[in-house]
Amino acid sequence: ATHPNLKMDGVCGLMMDGVSLTAIANAVGTPTWVISADTLRTRMARLKNAMQAAGLDVSLHYAVKANDHLAILSLLGKEGFGADIVSGGELARALKAGIAANKIVFSGVGKSDAELQEAIAHGVGQINVESAEELDIIAAIAQKLGRTATITLRINPDVDAKTHAKITTGLAANKFGIPYEEAASLYARASTLPGINAVGFATHIGSQILSVAPYRAAYARMAELVQSVRSQGLSVSVMDCGGGLGISYRTEVEGQPEALAGAMKAELGHLGLKLAIEPGRWPIGPAGVLLGQVILNKARGAEAPFYVLDTAMNDLLRPSMYDAWHGIVPLSAQDAATPAIPAHVVGPVCESGDTFARDRLLPPLQRGARVAILDTGAYGAVMSSTYNSRPMAAEVLIDNGTWHSIRPRQKRDALWHTETVPAHLTAGN
Ligand code: LLP
Repeated sequence: ATHPNLKMDGVCGLMMDGVSLTAIANAVGTPTWVISADTLRTRMARLKNAMQAAGLDVSLHYAVKANDHLAILSLLGKEGFGADIVSGGELARALKAGIAANKIVFSGVGKSDAELQEAIAHGVGQINVESAEELDIIAAIAQKLGRTATITLRINPDVDAKTHAKITTGLAANKFGIPYEEAASLYARASTLPGINAVGFATHIGSQILSVAPYRAAYARMAELVQSVRSQGLSVSVMDCGGGLGISYRTEVEGQPEALAGAMKAELGHLGLKLAIEPGRWPIGPAGVLLGQVILNKARGAEAPFYVLDTAMNDLLRPSMYDAWHGIVPLSAQDAATPAIPAHVVGPVCESGDTFARDRLLPPLQRGARVAILDTGAYGAVMSSTYNSRPMAAEVLIDNGTWHSIRPRQKRDALWHTETVPAHLTAGN
């Protein structure tokens, strides 16, 4: 992976957008997530430009699940982007950040009645319906509210995106979407349902997709569907092309927005559709790092040592959950210049799965040394927990050469401040 936002300075160590990450670690401590606003803006702009250059009419809905911090959503809202949400919580965040309801798309395989009511009452732009059952529920709720819900049907195209089993979604065996074979008849039914304004289709085949081939295959099937539905006299004006474009964590070549735009144009461009994409990882993954500090360097004779960090799987779950590979870079220029040896990088949580890297070539890192774990802007902070009663890490945003604390480290008593102990169990009774 290349990181144009990161530079090693001989004196200040690793810098992000001209700001010393050591200075941030000195000020707020570790573990700390740091996000580059410039990188996020640049990458969203590249997605938008790629679509425009292909002559496509595409709206961009940022997938809030990748990083739902209010500052991130506010930044994107200011740039005019919409949001793809999957819960009432994400709806509330997006609205709070100033993203207009009509620019919000509600996806998700199981939306509760309360969430649907809220979404319809706020007038979200589009609900992506994932089942025949859900279609009827939405129609009933919309009618009760005296509203019309604009919907697409999310179709499972049964295409193999060849990505990690836990994040593939476009296979018939996955829980997502409506089976392709049922799509046309369900759309015909949706078009007659009171309370429903059926405008088209949506598809999303998985995440961390590096090749455009599965996209092309999926869009080709969706194009066929559009034509067959139109030939029945039904109107289709929208195609939501999903998210999933992959980034380079290690040596992969990242997914290219221009290639994605090319696939959309080749398969869907002639249909006169209003298109949309829902990118999450691609714009924000490479924009973030997680700063940690070596608590100890645990020597093991001739074996690779363990570098035990003060950050763990409760902060960054991806390595333990998906065997994900993340780059690890020392913050100090001296450390970075020292010859590397194989080492295991682990967290202090009481599970062997709490491992960030095995046999990673890194300089000998002594107690107190700091590191940045790379490409953690997406599915990083959002997947954190307080497992082992570890407070939620601090978060920092670097924007235009200045860093801002966007979340202080969680205070220890906040870990239990909503817990209550029945009187007969309190100390002294
Ligand atoms: N749209 C829908 C309907 C989705 O389910 C997703 C992601 C996206 C868009 C955004 O996909 P992206 O552009 O970020 O690939 N936690 C996992 C990734 C889970 C992705 C879930 N759905 C990870 O850390 O790899």
